Amino acid sequence: MDLPEVSAKPLSELMSLKGRSAVVTGAAWGLGKATARRLAEAGASVLIGDIDVEKAKETAAEISSAYGVKVIAVKMDVTNSAEIIAGADLAVKEFGGIDVWVNNAGIPLYTSILDLADEDWDRVMAINLRGLFVGSREAAKRMIAGNKGGVIVNIASLAGFQGVSPGQAAYVTSKHGVRGATRQMALELAPQGIRVLAVAPGYCETEHTAHLSKMPAEQLAQIPIPGIGGSRLGRVGVTDDIARVVLFCASDMSIFMSGNTLLVDGATSA
Ligand SMILES: NC(=O)c1ccc[n+]([C@@H]2O[C@H](COP(=O)([O-])OP(=O)(O)OC[C@H]3O[C@@H](n4cnc5c(N)ncnc54)[C@H](O)[C@@H]3O)[C@@H](O)[C@H]2O)c1
Repeated sequence: MDLPEVSAKPLSELMSLKGRSAVVTGAAWGLGKATARRLAEAGASVLIGDIDVEKAKETAAEISSAYGVKVIAVKMDVTNSAEIIAGADLAVKEFGGIDVWVNNAGIPLYTSILDLADEDWDRVMAINLRGLFVGSREAAKRMIAGNKGGVIVNIASLAGFQGVSPGQAAYVTSKHGVRGATRQMALELAPQGIRVLAVAPGYCETEHTAHLSKMPAEQLAQIPIPGIGGSRLGRVGVTDDIARVVLFCASDMSIFMSGNTLLVDGATSA
């Protein structure tokens, strides 16, 4: 499939997702929610897939009323392939196809290698890697059926570039895997006009971690979260710092990019 040449388009059109649809996993809360907001603001219809379906429905209603676009929520545990397939089918039924799929759902784990149980390792891989693979596969099949390409955006991490504090072997391994999957999928899906990018956040505050930055420094130092307080840009990262870069990846602004992982860490690793 030939890639459109968009140089003559105005910025407003390049950033727009009007007439397009997006699926964001793990978007009831946190970075996924901020991402769903920006995609909706850009004009996309959005399906939120999350294990916390009650909160996902609340988030969908909030975003839909803010931007006047269709936002729906479904129960989607990304360890359950049948639920991913059902969510993808629903997006096609409701929106007529899938243009953007954001694999955001992911969990951390803080257990030292010596104490790390097989089932805990497997759970991190099942959510952070297998869920991302199954989501990408199902998105790509439907994008190919729609015959107009698409974009898959994977949420990696600063922990996909380096080892971080002790206790994060499974997480660090999974996030390095996200970068590998992004490169390979970009290579394999390019002929079908599907771009695959990853965004790698450094530490950023979410509804779940907002309490941390209020802790005294000595107490904070005991918490094994990579990059917390590590930004060199004068403030801690917030969810919208990441969401704006996901929108860049999802939009035609980045139309000639695929396979890259964009680090968004406030110069933590500079
Ligand atoms: N916040 C950070 O500092 C940071 C830094 C680097 C990378 N990340 C990555 O960003 C992504 C989002 O993280 P966050 O901080 O917003 O997390 P969060 O815990 O605030 O939100 C995660 C969301 O995913 C959902 N979820 C959890 N397990 C799921 C599953 N099995 N299936 C579907 N949904 C599930 C939760 O209900 C929630 O809505 C993750 O991949 C994480 O690894 C976050």
